[in-house]
Amino acid sequence: MAKQPTRVLVTGAAGQIGYALVPMIARGAMLGLDQPVIIHMLDIEAAAESLKGVKMELIDAAFPLLKDVVATTDVVEACKGVNVAVMVGGFPRKEGMERKDVMTKNVSIYKAQASALEQHAAPDCKVLVVANPANTNALILKEFAPSFPSKNITCLTRLDHNRALGQVSEKLNVHVGDVKNVTIWGNHSSTQYPDVNHATVKTAAGEKPVRALVADDQWLNTEFITTVQQRGAAIIKARKLSSALSAASSACDHIRDWVLGTPKGTWVSMGVYSDGSYGIPAGLIYSFPVTCEKGEWSIVQGLKIDEFSRAKMDATAKELVEEKSLAVEEKNNCRTCAL
Ligand code: NAD
Ligand code: LMR
Repeated sequence: MAKQPTRVLVTGAAGQIGYALVPMIARGAMLGLDQPVIIHMLDIEAAAESLKGVKMELIDAAFPLLKDVVATTDVVEACKGVNVAVMVGGFPRKEGMERKDVMTKNVSIYKAQASALEQHAAPDCKVLVVANPANTNALILKEFAPSFPSKNITCLTRLDHNRALGQVSEKLNVHVGDVKNVTIWGNHSSTQYPDVNHATVKTAAGEKPVRALVADDQWLNTEFITTVQQRGAAIIKARKLSSALSAASSACDHIRDWVLGTPKGTWVSMGVYSDGSYGIPAGLIYSFPVTCEKGEWSIVQGLKIDEFSRAKMDATAKELVEEKSLAVEEKNNCRTCAL
């Protein structure tokens, strides 16, 4: 029997990530080659014409898996019955803006979208926040959608994870598909900690630790980390635009593994609601190593953490605690302001 279509919401769908992401979803890269989809696209009034154009292109591409397209500027219509929500829309940080200014804008955007999702999405809807500051936007969404299970609200650090795999594969001249189990800890920001201590490479002689194969601790402890931390900025410098195709592809990886499961013996990085694992304060959206099975993620437990890693994991947690207090301050102000 043919599968029922899955409804996937993409907010900010007229933007650059949206434009790269919706055809990937329609081709089955997110939910599988046998899963029909209905794509819901939301953007703001100013982008309504452009959104219409994206819808026309989706129709013109005649994707066999794409059963319908909803293109709207109405947040309630956009959220109706969605099973997966990819939150790409948001207010970007502009020159001269403080972190706090972006937070103010995002609190009001995420308040409206959280309420609409809470009231109108499918009850088990899986949410992935891509828009920056991704971890804290996800936390704001969680705060404003209190009846949503916290397990269903995540943020994207899979792009950083994939970047770390890419750097190791370039260094060792091996295929990226043979590298696994890097970990991104913490914030999707320049304080994130890309960790290779448990990563391995598949070789003719079996799986070997990345540390043994690279045999250059200096590179692994310095240049590798800063390259991954700064990769987003390097792409903005080169393209004059932020990453889009890699962000879209990683968003598909994140949802696909969450829904369909991670391969045996492999973990991925996801920004998830901290339960206090690894001494990270509970109640932050923090990137951890996770495995997924039957639509549920679980934090990989028991990894040995050395002093070097501990300091870096704590530093990125500290930044998230600071972002959280800014967001809470804004949330409290918002209770009394008209949104
Ligand atoms: P973009 O400016 O091209 O697109 C953003 C879209 O969001 C625009 O079409 C805009 O009209 C829309 N939008 C703004 N407010 C909205 C609202 N309230 N509701 C619905 N839509 C709204 O930006 P982009 O390059 O597509 O990037 C989107 C976001 O993703 C940015 O915040 C960027 O920093 C972030 N990003 C995150 C990662 C990650 O790995 N987490 C990677 C790359 C980019
Ligand atoms: C990225 O990692 O590519 C983006 O988050 C960069 C950005 O600030 O948009």
